[in-house]
Amino acid sequence: MPVQIIVGAQWGDEGKGKIVDHLSEHVDIVARYQGGANAGHTVVLPARGKTKEREFVLHLIPSGIFHPHVTCVIGNGVVIDPKALMAEIAQLRSAGINTKGRLLISHNAHLIMPYHKALDTIREQGDQKIGTTGRGIGPAYIDKYMRTGIRVVDLLDRDVLCKKLRRNIEEKNELLRKVYGATELDLDALIQEYQEFDREIDEYVTDTSEYLNRALRKKRSILAEGAQGALLDVDHGTYPYVTSSNPTSGGACTGLGIPPTSVRSIMGVVKAYSTRVGNGPFPTELTDETGERLRSVGGEFGATTGRPRRCGWLDLVSLAYSIRVNGITEIAITKLDVLDAFDEIPVCIQYRVGSKTLSGFPTDVQTLEKVTPVYRIFKGWRTQTSDVRAFRDLPPNARSYIRFLEKSLRVRIGMVSVGARRDQTLHVR
Ligand code: IMP
Repeated sequence: MPVQIIVGAQWGDEGKGKIVDHLSEHVDIVARYQGGANAGHTVVLPARGKTKEREFVLHLIPSGIFHPHVTCVIGNGVVIDPKALMAEIAQLRSAGINTKGRLLISHNAHLIMPYHKALDTIREQGDQKIGTTGRGIGPAYIDKYMRTGIRVVDLLDRDVLCKKLRRNIEEKNELLRKVYGATELDLDALIQEYQEFDREIDEYVTDTSEYLNRALRKKRSILAEGAQGALLDVDHGTYPYVTSSNPTSGGACTGLGIPPTSVRSIMGVVKAYSTRVGNGPFPTELTDETGERLRSVGGEFGATTGRPRRCGWLDLVSLAYSIRVNGITEIAITKLDVLDAFDEIPVCIQYRVGSKTLSGFPTDVQTLEKVTPVYRIFKGWRTQTSDVRAFRDLPPNARSYIRFLEKSLRVRIGMVSVGARRDQTLHVR
């Protein structure tokens, strides 16, 4: 079966963009299945001719777009901010990357409206802060599940769009004004602005589920690209400190309209240490200078918001859980090179609460906040790995670290990344 799902196995920012770009060389279609412009997938293109090396941060468009033979799909499970999408298409176009005929957008995907962003920002000023990206993700998914959302297909019919916008804006303005004392949004300006998107978006819109299923029948290969990570999943993550969608592998089927029986493999992308942006429990977090060092060496600042990421050691308890809920069949380890300069590399192998050892990862935040991580300490390798091009050439301590992870997690590690560039990718075996 030709579908491979790529999921973040931690709290997002594992380096999925680079891995998806790398794998795209050998696939026909790359399809994003959930989330929105809260994601920031970074891809570095090598220098070519007179063009210098270039870095792109994609928020909505799948990371396969840099391979001209790949068709990119934004699935029904994604929430699309038309403004952000248009800006991304324009940015790619000005860099000479064509999206025409290569980008398909689901007619059923929901739209993020200015009132979603306003509500997201205002709610974050209350007492239960999630630390969201402020991109309107939660409020847009609320409307989707309330069945009052506006979808891509509605953009294409002016009467429907006006009717739906009018109904929504009346309700949202009341909420903004009465509940939050915030400024109301102007309906006419909004209608004007969103009507203009139909001309720009029209050529990309289609029934992407139908397209993908047709592709499956023709045995074309599909890579399903997840955003965020399993521990931010609204059902399986550290609720309520999560995003509002399903980054776990199950989300790929509902978010693309493809059958579970079409899935061949699930690759979990795992950073060689841990990071988290926003609030919520993080058992292996380092709030000392070691955490500071991981952040500066790893460049751990949000690709979307620029916020400093919280940093800590790798956590095998949460990873075992992530492997279970995703059904991960293979792992890609990223940013191994960030650990090059550390004398010791601790890995969390167990959680304790008082004198009790927990049997697994607790997803209730009350327990998770109380756990103490138990570490196994590895000797660092103190050698630069970013120039290594074959797994066997990694320093012995780095190989032992990888082998230990593989043995503990009981999942094959197929790839190790030692830098952001395409050529800094090692295939194991
Ligand atoms: P939201 O998705 O903007 O609602 O944010 C909810 C939580 O998910 C916050 O903790 C965010 O920091 C986190 N989050 C959302 N998108 C990403 C991402 O792409 N990488 C890492 N964390 C993210």
